[in-house]
Amino acid sequence: MLKRTHRIHELNNSLIGKEVIVNGWVDRIRNLGGIIFVWVRDRYGIVQVLFEPESPTYEIAKKLSAEYVVGVKGILRERPREAKNADLASGDLEILATDLEILAESKTPPIYINREEGNEDIRLKYRYLDLRRKSLQSNLIFRHKLMQKTREYFNSLDFVEIETPYLMKSTPEGARNFIVPSRIKKGTFYALPQSPQIFKQLLMIAGFDRYYQIARCFRDEDLRADRQPEFTQIDVEMSFVDQEDVQKVIGDLVKYLFKETLGIDIGNVPSMKYSDAMELYGSDKPDLRFGMEMKNLTDQIFVRNLGFLKPSEEEEVKMIVVPPNEVLSRKELDGYAESAKSFNLRLGWAKFSDGKFTGSIGKLLTNTDLGVKAGESVLICTGQQNNLNSFLGKVRIDIANKIKIIPDRTFKVLWINEFPMFEWNEEEKRFQAQHHPFTMPYLEDLANEDLSKIRAHSYDLVINGWEMGSGSVRIHTRSLQEKIFKLIGISEEEAKRRFGFFLEAFEYGAPPHAGFAIGVDRLVSIMVGAPSLREVIAFPKTTSGTDLMMDTPSEVTEEQLKELGIRLEGNS
Ligand code: AMO
Repeated sequence: MLKRTHRIHELNNSLIGKEVIVNGWVDRIRNLGGIIFVWVRDRYGIVQVLFEPESPTYEIAKKLSAEYVVGVKGILRERPREAKNADLASGDLEILATDLEILAESKTPPIYINREEGNEDIRLKYRYLDLRRKSLQSNLIFRHKLMQKTREYFNSLDFVEIETPYLMKSTPEGARNFIVPSRIKKGTFYALPQSPQIFKQLLMIAGFDRYYQIARCFRDEDLRADRQPEFTQIDVEMSFVDQEDVQKVIGDLVKYLFKETLGIDIGNVPSMKYSDAMELYGSDKPDLRFGMEMKNLTDQIFVRNLGFLKPSEEEEVKMIVVPPNEVLSRKELDGYAESAKSFNLRLGWAKFSDGKFTGSIGKLLTNTDLGVKAGESVLICTGQQNNLNSFLGKVRIDIANKIKIIPDRTFKVLWINEFPMFEWNEEEKRFQAQHHPFTMPYLEDLANEDLSKIRAHSYDLVINGWEMGSGSVRIHTRSLQEKIFKLIGISEEEAKRRFGFFLEAFEYGAPPHAGFAIGVDRLVSIMVGAPSLREVIAFPKTTSGTDLMMDTPSEVTEEQLKELGIRLEGNS
């Protein structure tokens, strides 16, 4: 085999005139009749190789086709000035081939490797070809670097990396568990962890003090661009700390990662209360890269004269001010008013120019009340607080995207604090833990009859409108843990059956502890600017949870089922 002397990025001017061998894939071929130019690609770069008709390699070169694997020997030389290619790192150089070995042939690939296009299903089916693309390779190499820096950071602070099991018991973390049948104990099942939550708390009880793990998690939930059924967390737990300590360690980690991988200084990470985030942005993960905050007009006298927008006792009135733009049409603004109706909300809009308002509520407004600038538009919306916040929050982002005011490659990182401990599950008609039931509530709130008013010592890290991570101070006494289980409708008996071992552990000296988990796939996506987690995971699943390459999930044999004691419905 013609074995390489250099990887392609190692070719440089100091090697001009020397004999080199490179290995790689045929990226593209230009056959100019007399001469054949071939670009050879390896992980590190691309170099042009020249086959002259008089060279003994010429006849072999004629057989080359895209994605053939080759070994090329030749003399490295400088390209003539007019043939230099500034787009290639090795664009000043080329190899004049003296020997060529075809190491493997390739069928015509079903996707273009050197173009960022093509049907995504085909790309996922031929993922190993898709992964030859430069953007995917650089995303995965970036991810690798981020992981290394993460380990470096935690190791320097005396954290211990500990692996926790994949085969465990179902835990209440909001999603459905993937379950795995046991062969040895037929009729029983393991669950795959939604996160190492319980294990890391047990590690604190065991005295490890500072734990981290780059942990795979599994959740059977509806998938979206920012969700995969299996994903990775940077999982952290610490003893004898409070919320500020954890936020300092995680905030510094994120700062370190941005600096070390992108060279960006994100500054100190500011905090915002959950209630303020909802009030100003209608979201618990506000995107702070642009303004357009919601203004609460409910207490202003003039809203009583706003016709159909006049609020009832239980309603609120909020406004967003849109910067001058030529993009938003009357039809689009009317569209927002129309969709507001489906959330039981009323919305009107107006544009301020030439000293007056025009638009659906133009006649009702005066600028003494609103104080907007020429060219700005307002959207005013009335209705029940929760609906109003979440609707107008989404309109804010939708408009910002349409009028293109969100700056690229800007990272706005913040903490959201003081989440509610519980949220109402309308389907099951009961309260559930907003973060997870191991979270420490504000003890002074516990007397509150209205569970929605109890705050939790939980906190999220948000970047550019994405939830990057979550954590909390944990409960560390059995009595409080039991009380929380009870409040979310887990009976004493069920708690004992599912978490008896965990509750018992609290009785053997559980230190105060707190922790956090960052979603690695999301963090890498946002840092490299990828629109979907699929761009930063080597072998991802589609939104319907399938792996198109392996064709999973797939059936298993009758024999396998029998061994597990499982009979499928509909089978005899
Ligand atoms: P949580 O459930 O909020 O907290 O998850 C933490 C972070 O993990 C990421 N994440 C996901 N990423 C991709 N696909 C998914 N399906 C997915 N689900 C979650 C998000 C999220 O912010 N044990 C707690 C943490 C703790 O309290 O320490 C937990 O898992 O970025």
